[in-house]
Amino acid sequence: MAENTDLSLVQDIIRAAGGHASSLHELTERHQAADVARVLVDEICSRCPPPVNEEPVLIEVVLRTADERRSHWLSAVKDAPVRDVPRGEGFVAMRIEYELADLVRELFGPSREHHTGVRETGLFPYAGSDAADQIAPYFLAAQQATATVLAGCTSAKPDLNELTSRYLTPKWGSLHWFTPHYDRHFRPYRDEEVRVLEIGIGGYKHPEWGGGSLRMWKHFFHRGLIHGLDIVDKSHADEQRITTLIGDQNDPDCLAEIAEKYGPFDIVIDDGSHINEHVRTSFQALFPHVRNGGLYVIEDLWTAYWPGFGGSEDPERSGATSIGLVKSLIDSLQHEELPPEQGRTPSYADRHVTGLHVYHNLAFIEKGANAEGGIPPWIPRDFDSLVAASSGGAA
Ligand SMILES: C[S@@+](CC[C@H](N)C(=O)[O-])C[C@H]1O[C@@H](n2cnc3c(N)ncnc32)[C@H](O)[C@@H]1O
Repeated sequence: MAENTDLSLVQDIIRAAGGHASSLHELTERHQAADVARVLVDEICSRCPPPVNEEPVLIEVVLRTADERRSHWLSAVKDAPVRDVPRGEGFVAMRIEYELADLVRELFGPSREHHTGVRETGLFPYAGSDAADQIAPYFLAAQQATATVLAGCTSAKPDLNELTSRYLTPKWGSLHWFTPHYDRHFRPYRDEEVRVLEIGIGGYKHPEWGGGSLRMWKHFFHRGLIHGLDIVDKSHADEQRITTLIGDQNDPDCLAEIAEKYGPFDIVIDDGSHINEHVRTSFQALFPHVRNGGLYVIEDLWTAYWPGFGGSEDPERSGATSIGLVKSLIDSLQHEELPPEQGRTPSYADRHVTGLHVYHNLAFIEKGANAEGGIPPWIPRDFDSLVAASSGGAA
């Protein structure tokens, strides 16, 4: 399992960002400003959209504390990601200056859609009064690169469809049409310090492919820690706030170990092998490690009908498939309404499935305490008796 050395620092920053201004003050006393700044700049680079400026420029990001001013130089040019680089010889097109604590809150605090008055800016900060000719070729690039970097300096709600093509994850636009459903069900968690586990990092046996969906979740859950599990080593996808894990989703012991170490999870997404047995094993092993109020998601339910994945073409024989699991969870949700003479001992799923949202090829399972109590035994179980009792004022 890959270890992310900055994880405790990042967690500390996220926590302080959600607290009072005094928490931010204490944060800067607990840690070196340089270390906090490094985390922030890494985060900005990972959130920036691809630059569109043809002319390469540097954007200077200045972070201020009471004692010091620290500059980072972000290189922006079309066809390359925004990067933190040495000052070098690049042309500095804009200076963007923040109080360190303000930028901590912008990036890691509860999302803010209102962004004026949090920064200072200076166009061509090192150009003298006689530099008009030198500046001219960079004017358009300055505006474009600044817009790119500022888009990375916020936690404004991103468009998931755009993120799927930016980070190359196939959750929208070809075989899968999942992002509107994800947006609907994940949005309420955006401001929380969520722990997300996605089974299936992508790219199968190719050692350098995959990780797109982890990057998308990292961007969407700007206060979250994202974990990816794959049977293949995908440590190339490790980033600040992304931890990749190696393991088999059909091995309950491995899943239990992961959950002990990195859970409980707010959200688990199964986008792994899609072999029906694996989907069911993972649900049994990991659903208990989803916190109450969290979600368990299963993608690509079509394999329930593919014998090559252990599915069944006959919906009447879906017992051992992923769809069979989902169908059984409807009975779990309703288990308190089953007649006691059936002698059902409530299963873990019976006691903890509180909602189901099933879309084409995608299911969201809500976790909580499913214990509202069944309809009481004194309420008549046949329609005519109910009407008679109601007419007499009993119900
Ligand atoms: C569909 S891809 C994941 C795509 C990725 N979630 C995305 O949206 O970009 C499925 C991944 O599951 C992995 N996988 C296959 N069998 C597995 C198993 N038994 N346990 C864990 N991961 C497995 C594969 O190596 C592959 O990378």
